Amino acid sequence: MRELERNRDAPASTEASSELGRLAVIGNGRVGGSLAHAARAAGLEVRVGGRGQVLEAVRGSDIVLICVPDRAIADVSREIAQAIDVTTYVGHVSGASGLDVLRPAMERGAPTFSLHPLQTIPEPTTTLLGVPAAVAGSTPAATRIATTLAERLGLRPFEVPDDQRAAYHAAAVLASNFLIALEETAADLLTRAGVEDARAVLTPLVLRTAANWSDTGRAALTGPIARGDETTVARHRAALRAMAPEFEPLYDALAERTRALATLNRSQPHVEGGTQVSTPRIVRTREELRAALAPARGEGRTIGLVPTMGFLHEGHLSLIQAARERCDVVVMSLFVNPTQFGPREDLAAYPRDEASDVTLAGEAGADLVYAPDTGHVYPPDFATVVEVGGGLTDVLCGDPARRGSAHFRGVTTVVAKLLNAVGPDVAFFGQKDAQQAIIVRRMARDLEFPVEIVVLPTVREPDGLAMSSRNVYLQPDERVRARGLNRALAAVSDAARSGETSTARALALGEKVLADAGIVPEYLEARDAETLAEVERFDDRRVLVAVAARIGSARLIDNVLIDLSHGEDPA
Ligand code: PAF
Repeated sequence: MRELERNRDAPASTEASSELGRLAVIGNGRVGGSLAHAARAAGLEVRVGGRGQVLEAVRGSDIVLICVPDRAIADVSREIAQAIDVTTYVGHVSGASGLDVLRPAMERGAPTFSLHPLQTIPEPTTTLLGVPAAVAGSTPAATRIATTLAERLGLRPFEVPDDQRAAYHAAAVLASNFLIALEETAADLLTRAGVEDARAVLTPLVLRTAANWSDTGRAALTGPIARGDETTVARHRAALRAMAPEFEPLYDALAERTRALATLNRSQPHVEGGTQVSTPRIVRTREELRAALAPARGEGRTIGLVPTMGFLHEGHLSLIQAARERCDVVVMSLFVNPTQFGPREDLAAYPRDEASDVTLAGEAGADLVYAPDTGHVYPPDFATVVEVGGGLTDVLCGDPARRGSAHFRGVTTVVAKLLNAVGPDVAFFGQKDAQQAIIVRRMARDLEFPVEIVVLPTVREPDGLAMSSRNVYLQPDERVRARGLNRALAAVSDAARSGETSTARALALGEKVLADAGIVPEYLEARDAETLAEVERFDDRRVLVAVAARIGSARLIDNVLIDLSHGEDPA
């Protein structure tokens, strides 16, 4: 031990670790007994003293380990302070106490430490081999002594800073004591439900679950919440309310934490030997949505929103994938918004396939699908609209002879509501609906929504047709003709890039392509890509060339962005 004295601030050498010196264990209860037993087995010289023999045990010792109940540690520390010198290391084995309880010894100049075996110790002969032990020290040398002693006793030491002691102990209580409380609650409920010997019935499930958790962590989570099955959760709560209402708050609190873990599993799946694809959770109300997002928001994680009307195609999936790459949590909204359909547009016939949408969204990386009912978004007394002016909504598709500005009023109203409901950091839109993206961006800016609007390139079929949910309406011959839209846009942009400065002349080339394909456009126009003002010349501003046409029963739109200062943007 005198070796240690010389090397007080040096790393504990092999020599030092094999020469810990004389150990005094104060307290001969279960913990003291087990530690003294382990110390003797390790070949250490050990003296054990009960409360009446403290001074006798301590005198001449190099290390004193106080193994008495928490409330008595300070008294023992005070008592031994008279019998130790500055070379004696004084430690305790309490989980909840910090080093401050050893203050009398510390004031005497002794370095102090704590060494807490993280294990229930039912008997004074409990084997501690391989048990993790939290160590802390008042000096680096004291920490090293605690570590070395723990290793010699066969424990597995890990450091816990003394100022994190309460958090450490709370974690230990959650993992151990609360587990008992939880299992007792489950057994009580099962007994009330008429099952005999509930503990025996539950034991295999508890042991297997603990083993799975030990192997794979949160990936071991199964059950209705992990599957996003809130209907079953609601049935559980109803049963609890009827049978054991006192357990409902506990169930709710654990359900909330489980939802957060399930969301985490979806956003950062545990992958072992393959790709894991998970089903996103479906939420139907803004309350459910907010509750589902609260943990992520509380942890400061980024939330991405992809608003859709469903019937997903590659274009939507590219938005979800981009959101997945950019954000911690990805929400896809799935709502066929009636207020953006005109009286002559068939809302009822809009294609829908929720089950497939949810699967595809999950594969693309969505964590949550927000799919509210119409009545939830627009209750009977709903009386507010969000309308963007500035000449953005009454041109192109917003022209009164086409869909009209009411269409965009419907879009901005619902997008504002979605942004409020989800509260995303980033919202993703497709460039295919270029005018919509420009209008939404202006609305977000003007109304100061704290969200970044990201607009991503149009996804196209191999022959250039822009992907759209409405393409399903095309008959085979119409599908072939529909290629004309993209070709017409290409003709206009080729002309501009080849030096044609007149938008009218370039558009005329596009109109010819449309005519050759048998397409009568609603419009083919060149407009400023930000203000949507008409442009007569291609110069160094960004120009949006947009087309809309009815082909068979499908109304299709497409566009290209021409930026001669930077080359053409992919659209
Ligand atoms: O682009 C769409 O699918 C819709 O207009 C949107 C943005 C989801 C609003 O209903």
